[in-house]
Amino acid sequence: MSPESFRPPASVCRLRPARPEDRDRFWEWRNDPDVRRYSFHPEPISLSIHERWFTQSLRSPHRQLYVIEVDSAPAGSLRFDAKGEGEAEISIVIASGFRGMGVGAAVLKQAQKLAATLGYKRLFARVKVENIPSRRAFEKAGFQLIDQDHVACLYEAELTGVCPAG
Ligand SMILES: CC(C)(COP(=O)(O)OP(=O)(O)OC[C@H]1O[C@@H](n2cnc3c(N)ncnc32)[C@H](O)[C@@H]1OP(=O)(O)O)[C@@H](O)C(=O)NCCC(=O)NCCS
Repeated sequence: MSPESFRPPASVCRLRPARPEDRDRFWEWRNDPDVRRYSFHPEPISLSIHERWFTQSLRSPHRQLYVIEVDSAPAGSLRFDAKGEGEAEISIVIASGFRGMGVGAAVLKQAQKLAATLGYKRLFARVKVENIPSRRAFEKAGFQLIDQDHVACLYEAELTGVCPAG
């Protein structure tokens, strides 16, 4: 099905906590050429470095990793990194075959409710200026642009008032 003919409603996008057996798909997603290109650290990630990162990430109380599922198929990853009191940085990767279909924007909306259930009061994201799909996805999900320089845009979502249900 082509991206043009399939725009999933938010209801078919689901977030589930990452599990040890997701290790290799996270490695694949993290090394996707667009993901590296739009990362602030664009070097490829070796399997051994990834294994350590993934294992530590699943154990860490300061990081939450989720698999995005579209109709039960793994379609990307979402991550919260606790940064300050009640604050987390949010990162998203949509697998290449699922991009441009509205999944990113839908998941970033759901992520605000999820973050509120985790006790976060504010989310922020740093996005490269030239990463137009990502900027559009954050904006469509209601994030506000609060700062920008020639490298990055800083987006935030205040979660006070976000209903954690659902
Ligand atoms: C950025 C990303 C998360 C966006 O998710 P997505 O599911 O592809 O985005 P959506 O389909 O929800 O589209 C969001 C907006 O971006 C636009 N868009 C999508 N792909 C685009 C492209 N290649 N060029 C320009 N705009 C694009 C969409 O048209 C939409 O805007 P619109 O509704 O005004 O038309 C996803 O493309 C991705 O994972 N990219 C690689 C990794 C990355 O950049 N992660 C973010 C790091 S901050």
